[in-house]
Amino acid sequence: EPASWVGDDGELPVTVAHRGYSSVAPENTLAAYASAMRTGAEYVEIDVHTTADGVPVVSHDQTVDRTTDGTGDVALLPSSYLTGLDAGSWFSPAFAAEPLPTFADMLDLMDTGASTMLLEIKGPETSAEVERVVDMIVDAGLEDRVVLQSFDVDALRAAREHAPQIPRGLLRGTLDADPVATAKDLGAVMYNPSANALATRPSVIGDLNAAGIAVMPYTVDSAADWARLTEAGVDGIITNRAGAFIGWKEAQ
Ligand code: G3P
Ligand code: CA
Repeated sequence: EPASWVGDDGELPVTVAHRGYSSVAPENTLAAYASAMRTGAEYVEIDVHTTADGVPVVSHDQTVDRTTDGTGDVALLPSSYLTGLDAGSWFSPAFAAEPLPTFADMLDLMDTGASTMLLEIKGPETSAEVERVVDMIVDAGLEDRVVLQSFDVDALRAAREHAPQIPRGLLRGTLDADPVATAKDLGAVMYNPSANALATRPSVIGDLNAAGIAVMPYTVDSAADWARLTEAGVDGIITNRAGAFIGWKEAQ
C-alpha cells in the first residue's frame, strides 16, 4: 500500500545507512552492514553488480580497483576471483579480512537484523540479471524487507514486470519536470533524489508525499542538512553516518 511508505507529519526521517555504516567500516562489506543493523538503521543501502559468470555481488563501482586489492571490471571477472579479494584494507588494516560479498551473503546477513534493504541495481544490467536478483530475494522470503532502486528506469521496469510485488524507488541526480508523474509511471513507492537536486525545488516533497510516494535524499552527512531536510518533510535520509544521524534524532 503506497501511502504507508510516507512518514507521518512530524515524524523524524528514517535512517538509511549508505553502503552500510560506511563512515566506520568499509563500504559495501558485511562488516558495514552488520554495524548499520546493530546501530539501528531502519534501512541499509547496497549496490549490486553481476559478475562475468552471472553471480550478483555487492560493490559500488563498476571496477574493484578503488575498494579492493584487485583490479578490473566486475562484469568481466569471475566470482571466484572477486570473492577472494580483500575489500577492507583500503579502509583500514583492521578490516583486512573483509571479503567482497556476494548478494547471497548479504541476503543471509539480513537474518541477523531487522533492517530493510534498499537495493540499488547499478547497471547497466540485462533484464535477465535483474530477474536473477529478484528471484533470489523471493527465494529468500525477503520480499517484505527489500526496496529496489535504480537510476536506470529499464532496470526498474524489468523488476516490475518480473516481480511487481517488490516495491521500487527511482534515483535521480536531477529532478524530473513532474516527479509525481514519473514515479507513478514506474509504479515507484519512493523518489530518491540527490540532496542538491532536491534543494532546487523542495516543494516536490509535499507533492510526492500527497501521492503516497516517499522521498529519501542522498547522501546527507551534516547535522545542518539533517535539520533542513527534516524540516522540509523528507521521509528518510541516506547517510554514511548512520550512528551520528540516529544520535542527532534522539536529541531532537
Ligand atoms: O542511494 C543513493 C546513492 O547510493 C546513489 O549514489 O553513487 O552512492 O550509489 P551512489
Ligand atoms: Ca548506491
